Amino acid sequence: MKKILITDLIPESVIKKLEEHFIVDVNRSNKSLSKIEMLTSFKNYDGILSMFTNTIDKEILDTLDHTEIIANYAVGHNNIDSEFAKSKNIIVTNTPDVLSDTTAETAWALLYSVARRIVEADKFLRDGKWGKFTYDFMAGQDIYNKTLGVIGAGRIGKKFAEKAKGYNMRILYYNRNRDIDFEQDTQAEYVSLEELMVQSDFVSVHVPLTEATRHMLDYELMSKMKSNAIIVNTARGPVIKEEDLIRILQEKKIYGAGLDVFEFEPHVPEELLKMDNVVLLPHIGSSSMETRTAMAELAANNLIAVLNGESPITPVNV
Ligand code: DGY
Repeated sequence: MKKILITDLIPESVIKKLEEHFIVDVNRSNKSLSKIEMLTSFKNYDGILSMFTNTIDKEILDTLDHTEIIANYAVGHNNIDSEFAKSKNIIVTNTPDVLSDTTAETAWALLYSVARRIVEADKFLRDGKWGKFTYDFMAGQDIYNKTLGVIGAGRIGKKFAEKAKGYNMRILYYNRNRDIDFEQDTQAEYVSLEELMVQSDFVSVHVPLTEATRHMLDYELMSKMKSNAIIVNTARGPVIKEEDLIRILQEKKIYGAGLDVFEFEPHVPEELLKMDNVVLLPHIGSSSMETRTAMAELAANNLIAVLNGESPITPVNV
């Protein structure tokens, strides 16, 4: 029987299913595997089910001589050097589609929370500060009738834009290439990144992290935004240059930000922790039980297919 390693806990039902096909080792400890542990253990397995928190670089990949597949439990796969894996005939797969709605919902939750000051108001109440009514008490800003800017026309960006239906919003999008299907499905208008930043009330980031998108949003670009603008990021932290975002927020050039991802996770800068107009989540974009189970099943099905000599379902490097 072939051997696989699951680098962190996934739903038990999926572990059981994998045990029908393989000898399965699971890291059941409360800690992610260290680099040393990955360097010494990965080579013993035919397949690895990895997390986005496992940085699988050339050095680790170089230790593998019979591993056939790394099935990443995430749609983002910037944690794995997939090109180098390919050169070693290792298939890398991800978990697209199954998490798109859930992640888009998280982006909307962040947008609402910042625009309507939900987290700030909840804290105010819990701190026992609720007192006299004033007309501007916790007054935020409306979302309907505004301009929404969507950066990235992939699956999650599309779900995010589609969910704007009913809010009478103008939708702008920026993508490397114009996408007519995206425009037809969402009624969005294609604009340059700069135009999007200038015209949008709310900007949501939905691009993968690559060398081309790292620090795509920097001080210069973010300072073109409207003073009521809100930035939401549920993609990857380094797409926004974090120190520049902090500066923009400190200078009160925009209204606020909703962040599910950070440049150096799990580190969150002290400056952000102190701001009331910023809502912060610990990278839970795809975290509903239904979606986390569907992601595990897709990763497992990729392992089963490849280790049985079939084609991967959702490869990223073939
Ligand atoms: C992903 O899938 O890339 C998320 O960030 C983790 O679930």
